[in-house]
Amino acid sequence: MKIAIIYSSKTGNTEELVHLIGQLFLKKKVDVTLFRVEEFPIMDLINYEAVVIGTYTWGNGEIPQEMMELYRAFETQDVMKILTGVVGTGDSGYPKYCGAVDEFKEMLYVHTNLLVTLKIELTLQLKDIDRCRKFVNIFLNQLRRKQGIGSHFS
Ligand SMILES: Cc1cc2nc3c(=O)[nH]c(=O)nc-3n(C[C@H](O)[C@H](O)[C@H](O)COP(=O)(O)O)c2cc1C
Repeated sequence: MKIAIIYSSKTGNTEELVHLIGQLFLKKKVDVTLFRVEEFPIMDLINYEAVVIGTYTWGNGEIPQEMMELYRAFETQDVMKILTGVVGTGDSGYPKYCGAVDEFKEMLYVHTNLLVTLKIELTLQLKDIDRCRKFVNIFLNQLRRKQGIGSHFS
C-alpha cells in the first residue's frame, strides 16, 4: 500500500496537521510519503492506491490557487480506483468554514473512492489529536475493507 499525502500550507497550520497524520500512518506501518503540492509529480498520481489531500481555505471559502492543478488532475485523469481522504484547516469566523475541504470532498466523491474527511479549526489542539487518530483509523479500516483484507488495529 502506497499512500501520498499532498498538501498546501501558507502559515503552517495545515503543514502541522499533515505531519501528524503522516506520523499516525507510519505508526500503523503504512508506507506514506508527504509532498508539498508544488513538489508532487502530477503524472505520478495514478500510481498511488491512496491519496490524502491537505488544504487550507482562502478567499471566500476557496481552494488555494496552488492546489488547482491537482484538483483538475483528479477531475480529468483515470482516478476512479484511488482511495482518497481530505483534511484541512480553516477559520470558523469565515462564512464558508474549511470551504476548500468541502470543494475537494464533492469532487473526490464523484471522481474517486472517497473514504473520509476532517476539518480542524486553525492550529492543532490537544483534542484534535484524537480526531486525527480517528481519521487515520477510519481511513485504514475502510481501505482494508475495500481491499478485502479485513481491519486490525493495535
Ligand atoms: C485572506 C484569508 C481568507 C481566508 N478565508 C477563509 C475561508 O473562507 N474559510 C475558512 O475556513 N478559513 C479561511 N481563512 C483561514 C485559513 O484557512 C486558516 O488560517 C488556515 O489555518 C491557514 O492554513 P495554513 O496555516 O496551513 O496556511 C482565510 C485566511 C485568510 C488570511
